[in-house]
Order: sequence, then C-alpha cells, then structure tokens
Amino acid sequence: MRVVILGSGRGSNAEALCLAQQAGQLGRAQIVGIFADRPEAGILALGPRFGIEARYLDPAPFKTKLEGEGEQRYIAAVAACAPDLVVLAGFMRVVKPGFLAAFAGKVINLHPSMLPSFPGLDGIGQAFRHGVKITGCTVHYVTPEVDAGRIIDQAAVRIEDNDTVDTLATRLHAAEHRLLVDVVARLSSL
Ligand code: GAR
Repeated sequence: MRVVILGSGRGSNAEALCLAQQAGQLGRAQIVGIFADRPEAGILALGPRFGIEARYLDPAPFKTKLEGEGEQRYIAAVAACAPDLVVLAGFMRVVKPGFLAAFAGKVINLHPSMLPSFPGLDGIGQAFRHGVKITGCTVHYVTPEVDAGRIIDQAAVRIEDNDTVDTLATRLHAAEHRLLVDVVARLSSL
C-alpha cells in the first residue's frame, strides 16, 4: 500500500509513521512521498532522514484552501507517487472536491478531537476551553465537508483537573501517534 503524507508543520505524526515503518510495524504500508505547503515545515526534514521524497509544493493562490493552480500542483505531484492512501497529517488547509476526486476514497485525515465534537481549527484548545472531561483524536475519510467524513477510528484522552492546554496537547499528540500508526497498518492489511 503506497502512502503519501501531506502536512504543514512539525510532522510528529508523519515521524511516527516513518518510525513504525522502519520498525516493521506499519503492515504493508510504504511511505513514498511527503509534501508540505510551507517551505519551513519540520515535516520536510523526514525526507532525508528516512530516504523518502519530501518536497514543498506551492499551494498558491489561496491562503486556507487548496484550489486552482495549487490544487493542480498537488494533484500532479501526489498522482506521480501512485498512492493507495493519502494521509493528511496536520495539513492545515481545506482540501476541495477536485483533489478528492483525483484520489477518490483514498484520502484520510487526522483530527485532534472526538469528532463530531470540536471540528475545525484548534480542536485541542476548543475541547479544553469547553471543559469536557474526555476528548481525543479521530482518523476519518475526507469529504468536501470539513471534518465530517466517515470515521475510521478514535482514541480517547481524559482531561485532568490540573491539565493545561500544553499538558493536554502532549498526551493528545502521543495518542494521535498511536492511533494513526494503528489505522494505517490496519488499512494496509484490508
Ligand atoms: C495534529 O495534532 C493534527 O491532529 C492536527 O495538527 C497536528 C499536526 O501535528 N491537525 C488538525 O488540526 C487538522 N484540522 P504534527 O505536524 O506534529 O503531526
């Protein structure tokens, strides 16, 4: 199962996938490309470290969505990797129907809350400020409606009374790393 990862930031979830693959714990999944919409994104450092093609792809002309010329650049680069699965791992941009049609049924997203609660930006902060006692993370198929596609799996994280957003985020990210590796490994064995 050929896997392409799209991200915008640190890339800790992509790193978890790369480490799992290296350790033989990612089933039949093989990461074949990593693309970022910010040239300074930490996720791009995974390329040379793990021997995987990793590149910045200009998402212009839009700031928060992938459409028009930027979408075409992403479709071309991702299609060249012939992926069976496209993982949005911290890709902070709305993916539109053109991209989704090019990789129909193959695009999954990781979101840092128990969807359908707290979709959109800052899922961790939203849950923390709301005062829920249990939050978590979700991996779901991507559809044009943001954070609303069919849920593949979730993991729960309890919010303790003495948590800050930062301490919660640390545990939540650890839960994300386990969940995403588990889901990708399972999808590869279907
Ligand atoms: C993760 O917490 C992921 O759930 C979130 O961005 C972070 C990326 O971290 N994604 C979203 O909020 C998407 N709406 P990473 O770059 O260290 O993997």
